Amino acid sequence: MIILHTKVIKIDREQIDASVISEAGQILKEGGLVAFPTETVYGLGANALDEEAAAKVYAAKGRPSDNPLIVHIADMESLAGIARQVPEAAHKLAEAFWPGPLTMIFPKKEAVPCGTTGGLATVAVRMPSDEIARAVIRSGGGYIAAPSANTSGRPSPTLAAHVKEDMDGKIPLILDGGPVQIGLESTIVDLTEEIPVILRPGYITLEMIKGVLGEVKMDQGLLSEDPLVHPKAPGMKYRHYAPRADLKVVEGPAKDVAAYINRRAADRKTGIICTEETRHCYACGMIKCVGTRTDERSVAEHLYEVLRAFDEEGVEAIYSESFDSPGLGQAIMNRLLKAAGHQRIDASKEKS
Ligand code: TXA
Ligand code: MG
Repeated sequence: MIILHTKVIKIDREQIDASVISEAGQILKEGGLVAFPTETVYGLGANALDEEAAAKVYAAKGRPSDNPLIVHIADMESLAGIARQVPEAAHKLAEAFWPGPLTMIFPKKEAVPCGTTGGLATVAVRMPSDEIARAVIRSGGGYIAAPSANTSGRPSPTLAAHVKEDMDGKIPLILDGGPVQIGLESTIVDLTEEIPVILRPGYITLEMIKGVLGEVKMDQGLLSEDPLVHPKAPGMKYRHYAPRADLKVVEGPAKDVAAYINRRAADRKTGIICTEETRHCYACGMIKCVGTRTDERSVAEHLYEVLRAFDEEGVEAIYSESFDSPGLGQAIMNRLLKAAGHQRIDASKEKS
C-alpha cells in the first residue's frame, strides 16, 4: 500500500467550516477515504457507489471482503436510490429514530456495487444525526460507505486519536470532531424478514423498537453460545473489538466479583474494568473505571477507550465486571463478550 501523509483537521460541530467539508467531499468524490465522526463511533468513509473506493476501505482496515459496509445517507429522499423495497415498518422506524444510531437492511438496487455489500443482495443503510457526518455525506455525493474507522479486530474509535493510531499513513484525511456521543456502533435491524430482526444491539434498544413496531426478534445467532450457530450480520461472527490482553468477564454478586478479581490482580500487569460504584472494592492491579451503573450511557461512551488504554499500558490480562441488564446493557455486554472471545466466569461458583 502507498504511504500517504495523513492530515488531521479539527472541526467545530457548532460552527462547521465549509472549506474543510468541501475538501473532504472532494477526496470522497475522487474515490479517496476520509475518516469523520458520527454520534456512535468514527467512520472510515468512501463513495459507496464506487467499487474501487470501497476496495480501499477493506485494504485500509484489513477487513475480510465478505463483511459488508453500511451506506450512510443524509436525507430520506436518498433511500430510494439504493433500496429496492422499503416496507412500512422501515418508514415507522425512520420516523422514530432517523437521523440517529439505527441501521436498516433492505434489498439493494443495482446502483450499489457488490464490492460495497460484500457480495450480498441486500444493503445496510444508516442516516446519522451528527452534523459533521451529515455535511460530509452530502459533500461526498450522498452515499458514503463507512465502517468503524479502526483496523479490523481492534476496538472501534471514539476519538480522532484512535483513528490516527490505526489509520496513520493509510488515508489522506481525518476530521477531528472531538469525542463521540454514544461510543457503541448503531443498532442493526434486518427488514427483509417478515418479522424484523435485530442483528446487532445498540443504543436503540429492543424495547424501543418494540414500542414502534410491536414485533421484533433478536437474531438467535447473537444469543447462542453454540459456535455452529452463526449471527446473520457477517461482521458479528468475527472476534472483534479485541484488546491485546486476555479479557474475561466476571459475573455474579458484586462482592463475589470483586473478591474473585482481587485474588488475581497482584500487579499492574492485570487490568480491572470497574464502575464508580465498585471502584473502592479494588486495591491492586491497573484499575480503570468505565462509568457509572446509574447511567449506562457513560459505560457505553468509555468502553472502547478503556480497552485501547489497556493496550497502551501493555497489561497481560483484563478482568471486567459484567453489565447484563436490559436496554443499553444488552449492547454493552454484546461488545464486551465479543472482546473477551466469550470467556465468562461465574464468580459465585469460583470461590478460590
Ligand atoms: O454506528 C455504526 O454503524 C458505525 C458508524 C461509523 O456509522 N459503522 C459501523 O460499521 O459500525 P461496521 O462496518 O464496523 O459494522 C457494520 C456491520 C457489520 O457487522 C456488517 O457485517 C453488518 O453491519 N452489515 C452490513 N451490511 C449488511 C447486510 N447487508 N446484511 C447484514 N449485515 C450487514
Ligand atoms: Mg466495525
